Amino acid sequence: MNVSDTVHYLFLAAAACFVIGLHLMNHPRTARRGNTLSAGAMTVAIAATVWLVADEGTISRTGWFVLASGGLVGAALGLYAAREVRMTAMPQLVSLFNAVGGGAAALIAVNDLLRIENAGARVSLPGALDIVIGAVTFSGSLVAAGKLQGLVSGAPVVFPGARSLNVLLPVSFVAGSVWLVLAPDSRTALYGLVAVALLFGVTLVLPIGGADMPVVIALLNAFTGSAVAMAGFVLNETALIVAGMLVSSSGGILTKLMADAMNRSIAGIMVGGFGTGDSAPAAGSGAPARVRPVSADDVAVQLAYASKVVFVPGYGLAAAQAQHELGDLAKLLTDHGIDVSYAVHPVAGRMPGHMNVLLAEANVPYTQLKEMDEINPEFPQADVALVIGANDVTNPIARRPGNAISGMPILDVDKARSVVVIKRSMGHGYAGVDNELYTDPKTGMFFTDAKKGLSELKAAVSEFVG
Ligand code: TAP
Repeated sequence: MNVSDTVHYLFLAAAACFVIGLHLMNHPRTARRGNTLSAGAMTVAIAATVWLVADEGTISRTGWFVLASGGLVGAALGLYAAREVRMTAMPQLVSLFNAVGGGAAALIAVNDLLRIENAGARVSLPGALDIVIGAVTFSGSLVAAGKLQGLVSGAPVVFPGARSLNVLLPVSFVAGSVWLVLAPDSRTALYGLVAVALLFGVTLVLPIGGADMPVVIALLNAFTGSAVAMAGFVLNETALIVAGMLVSSSGGILTKLMADAMNRSIAGIMVGGFGTGDSAPAAGSGAPARVRPVSADDVAVQLAYASKVVFVPGYGLAAAQAQHELGDLAKLLTDHGIDVSYAVHPVAGRMPGHMNVLLAEANVPYTQLKEMDEINPEFPQADVALVIGANDVTNPIARRPGNAISGMPILDVDKARSVVVIKRSMGHGYAGVDNELYTDPKTGMFFTDAKKGLSELKAAVSEFVG
């Protein structure tokens, strides 16, 4: 068997491992193994590619130097980011990775076009699609990362004509792509297509605000996969096509799940500003909010004498890294015979599966994790719903039209017999709207950092059940 055949078998094996790896990620217990398997397969695919090009001898000494330097710098940055970036900054990091993936895929097609003297025979639809999807992903993901990091306003940025522009720009992609396929040597067509796609990425993400970001992040992830798959067609690389399509299809499924979770249509979000340009109540508007502050001892009494407690974790739990304290408190209550569950909203936190990852870290029994549809009918039987740093996903105003989270299915926390909210202030959540749950007479507000508050609660509950 020659090198080329061996390498293609290795690509096939790597592709199979990607599929198995993805399957293992279906369950938290096997997810780590799935990740390791996929990373191992990617390492084999990269090593096989290097072997193939070394065997073909088509790369100059300078080329090898550039490849090695790029690989080393990229690997060092990736390793540093993966080890050092805080869990709460992971969504921004994922967005940056999407940007890099999309941008790299687009550059492959651009490079292919620029290098070819007589491109006529080689320009194909995948090449044009690679440029369009890759460039949209690049600029869109950068804006998304900026929004998540707070560098760009998280509120919808809508300018006159934005929605029409978001319809017009895709039409110009089609025209630009046809032009490029018909006239592959035209630099105007090439640069025009890149510019229009970059602009669309910005106008696609800027108007997204309120709580719709999860859908856009998942969508951009799917776009990255599609761009990489198209780059695979351009380079005729099977492994790239398979890996790209896997990311694209799993990202597509995630986008659908997120859109369903937010009760939004993907097309509506892509046209721009869906569910975001409405009249979100301003901070402090309306009658002065009356809230009932409570102390750790007050809450501990409620918890110790409850039969059923539902924990509702949100972004604040992640920000405070309080998952272990929550797990400890839950164990104390469970050992005391109290029925404990965790209500997990699909968009709680800042990335898909954020709460599941955190709670898995704290070794919370999976049987206690309940998704929104499963836990909502149970809230009326809950003696205490303890909300830890969750805000938007519990806000009853989502049931009314005319605000930034209208239509978003929420956790029915307000239906519990009593509610306690742990957060530091009356500050807003990601969507920037007041939460009516906090002024509900049955809600007690425990104003503190989640980690500190849960430790205090554990100590106080121990006194009662000790
Ligand atoms: P949010 O609505 O964002 O609310 C989080 C709350 O945590 C804040 O109100 C904050 O109040 C509190 N908090 C922050 N740090 C804290 C700390 N150290 N201790 C205690 N509390 C703390 O969170 P959520 O309910 O999880 O909703 C998620 C939101 O993010 C949704 O709008 C969702 O659409 C959006 N989003 C989600 C994703 C994904 S994929 N999940 C991605 C992007 C955006 P204080 O400042 O008063 O403490």
